Amino acid sequence: MTETRENWSARSGFIIAAIGSAVGLGNIWRFPYVAYENGGGAFLIPYLIAIFAAGLPLLFLDYAVGHKFRKAPPMAYKKLMNAESLGWWQVMVTLVIGIYYASVLSWAGSYMFYSFGQQWGTDTQGFFFNTYLQNGEGLTLGFVPVLFFGLVVVWAAVMLILYGGVRRGVELANKIFMPLLVILFTILVIQAVRLPGAVDGLNAFFTPNWEAMANYKVWLAAFGHIFFSLSVGFGIMLTYASYLKRKTNLTGSGIVVALANSSFEILAGIGVFAALGFMAFSSGAKVEDVVSGGIGLAFIAFPKIISSLGAGGDLFGFLFFGSLTVAGITSMVSILQVPIAAFQDKLGWSKNKSVTIIAGGSAVISTLMFSTHSAITFVDIIDYFANNIGIVGGGLLSIILLSWFRRPLMKQLEGHVNEFASVKLGASWNFMLTVITPLSLLLALGLTLKSIMAEGYGGYAASTLWMVGGGVMAFFILGAILFSLIKDRHS
Ligand code: PHE
Ligand code: NA
Repeated sequence: MTETRENWSARSGFIIAAIGSAVGLGNIWRFPYVAYENGGGAFLIPYLIAIFAAGLPLLFLDYAVGHKFRKAPPMAYKKLMNAESLGWWQVMVTLVIGIYYASVLSWAGSYMFYSFGQQWGTDTQGFFFNTYLQNGEGLTLGFVPVLFFGLVVVWAAVMLILYGGVRRGVELANKIFMPLLVILFTILVIQAVRLPGAVDGLNAFFTPNWEAMANYKVWLAAFGHIFFSLSVGFGIMLTYASYLKRKTNLTGSGIVVALANSSFEILAGIGVFAALGFMAFSSGAKVEDVVSGGIGLAFIAFPKIISSLGAGGDLFGFLFFGSLTVAGITSMVSILQVPIAAFQDKLGWSKNKSVTIIAGGSAVISTLMFSTHSAITFVDIIDYFANNIGIVGGGLLSIILLSWFRRPLMKQLEGHVNEFASVKLGASWNFMLTVITPLSLLLALGLTLKSIMAEGYGGYAASTLWMVGGGVMAFFILGAILFSLIKDRHS
C-alpha cells in the first residue's frame, strides 16, 4: 500500500525548511575562514558572482525538477531524462554525508555541555584530540563510550523528527529551531562585537586584498563554497521542492532562501572574527596568527576564546555550540530526507518503514564508525571525498546531461517554473547552466583529482586514504548502478 505524497502546510513551511537546510555548520565555521583565506573583503565579489552564476541557477534547476515530477532524485531524473542512476549517485552522496555529519553534530552537542564550567581547561587542543575524541594513530577502531552516547542522542533526535513526516516532523522542527537559532546567534554576535579587540578582527575579515581576485583558486573556493552552502546539486532542494503544491512561485522562494543563507554567513563572519580579534587582543598576537580553518576553528579556537572570557564564557560557549547544534540538526534532517524519500518512491515503502530502514541503518553504521579512535580521521577524509567529488561530480553530470545533451528539456523546465514564478527564467539562466556552471564545476573536479593524484590529501598515509576515500567512491558507484537495476515497485 502506498501513502499519498506529503505536502508542506504552506509555502512558508517549505521556505523555512529550505533555509534550515542551507544554514548549517557551513555558515558558522566554514564561510568565515574561507572568506578570510581568500581575500577577506575582496572575497565578497567572487562570492556574489558565484551565487548568481551558479548557486541560484542550480537552485532553480533543483526546484524545477523536484516540483515538476514530485519525486526524489532517482525517479525524478528517470522521468526527466531516463537517468535514474544519476539520482542514485546523489542519494548515495546524501547517505555518506548524513553518516559523518551526525558525528560533527554530536561533538557540537557535547561541547554545549562542556561549556558549563569550561571543562576543556587550558589546553583546548589536547582536550579535543586526546581527552574527548581519544584520537588514535592511523585507523584504530577501539570503542570510545563518550562518542557513542553523543551519537545515540543525535540519531534518536533526528529519527524522531523524521518519523513525524514532512509536515509534523521536518516542517515543525524547522519552525521551532530556526527562530531559536536566530535568537541564539544574534545574542552571540552582539556579545562578540562588544569584546575588546573585536574591531581588529573585523578589520582583518573585511579588509579587501584585491590581488586575491586575480588568483583562480579564490574563484574556485567561492564556487565550491556556494554549492555546499546552498545545499544544491545533490538532491536536497530537489526533494524538498517535491512536496510543494502545484501553483508555487519557485524563483521567489529560491531568492528568499539564498538571501537568508548569505545574511547568515555574513553575520557568522562578523561574530567569528570579532571573537578572533578578542583572542588576538588578549594573547598579544596578531589576528592572522590566531585564525585556523575547519573543525579546529570551532572545537579548538572557540573554547580558547570562551576560556579567556572568564566566568561569562560559559554562556558564550553555550550560545555558540547551541547555535551549531541547532543549525546542524535542521541540515541533518534535510540530508536524510533524500534517501528516505528515494526508497519510498522506488519501492513503495511507507514513510515509517523507510525511516526505520534507511535512517535506522545509517544510525547503526554511523554510531559504529564514529565511536572509535578514528572518528576525526573518518570525518576529515569522508567530508573531502563527499564534497569535492560526490557533490561536484553529481551536480556536474546532471547539468551537462541536461544543458548540453537534452536542450529541449531545459525549455520545458523553464516553462514549468515560469508558469507561477515572480522572476522569470530566460536566456541568462540558460547561459549560466550551459556555460558558466559546468565549466566551473569541471575545473573544480579536475583540480581536485589532480591534487589527490599528486599529493594525496591531508597528509594521511596512502593506505588510509585508499581505504576510506576509495570505500566512499565504491559506495557511490555501486549504489548508483545496483539500485537502478532493481525493479520499481511504486504505484
Ligand atoms: N548547507 C549546509 C551548510 O551550509 C551544509 C549541508 C551540506 C547541508 C550538505 C546539507 C547537506 O552548512
Ligand atoms: Na549554508
